[in-house]
Amino acid sequence: MPKLGVNIDHVATLRQARYKTVLGGMAPEPDPVKAAVLCENAGCHSIVCHLREDRRHINDRDLQILRRIVKTKLNLEMSVAPSIVKIAKKIKPDQATLVPEKRREITTEGGLNVVKSPAKIKHVVKDLKSSGIVVSLFIDPDKKQIKASKKTGAEFVEFHTGRYANAANDNVAKKELEILKDAAKTAIKLKLKVNMGHGLNYINVKDIAAIGGVYELNIGHSIIARAVFNGLDEAVREMLSLTR
Ligand code: PXP
Repeated sequence: MPKLGVNIDHVATLRQARYKTVLGGMAPEPDPVKAAVLCENAGCHSIVCHLREDRRHINDRDLQILRRIVKTKLNLEMSVAPSIVKIAKKIKPDQATLVPEKRREITTEGGLNVVKSPAKIKHVVKDLKSSGIVVSLFIDPDKKQIKASKKTGAEFVEFHTGRYANAANDNVAKKELEILKDAAKTAIKLKLKVNMGHGLNYINVKDIAAIGGVYELNIGHSIIARAVFNGLDEAVREMLSLTR
């Protein structure tokens, strides 16, 4: 049974739609910090957030408070940019998930290309590990990327489930599910721990949760979307019951 990490970036996205800056000491709504508390109370196993270089949703204030109040595990999604690595080493999240970052994307598109830049990624993994941070690499479910990830010294890989989640029809989804299953087997054989995430929702999560040996699923959009109507507590509990 995989654990559930809730990505709270989407709460900050809603806040930023109205408030671009923190006004004179007040915390504009909705506050991702409050979301983290509610998600933990509902039983999630970790809180995931992404401090982007452009601070388009989560900001430095959020991260500082999250570090102090998150009781489960704080998983910081981050690029390998030196300025962000410096912040991560200071804040010390329990885990860092290295992701590619493009300015104009709406959300993380595709996995990190570890095959293309092994030395750069290995250096960042070593740097973060030296600060006691567990490192995960967000990659596509591809054998070459898995093998390259192992060589960086990262303890986890997270497979991008976007191609499965966004499949045009059931046949494509089935094919993508098999690719994810094979990738999980390959990674586990190499003694990498396996997380998965991106585009998972209340309908497509069951088949992913049933893949053997997956450690954690990281889910954001669908949980926060459901929370708009049903409340965050119920949204998290329902997703937890589906992953079981
Ligand atoms: N995992 C990673 C590494 C991500 O970048 C994202 C998107 O922020 C997610 C999981 C969650 O994706 P979604 O919001 O589609 O559930």
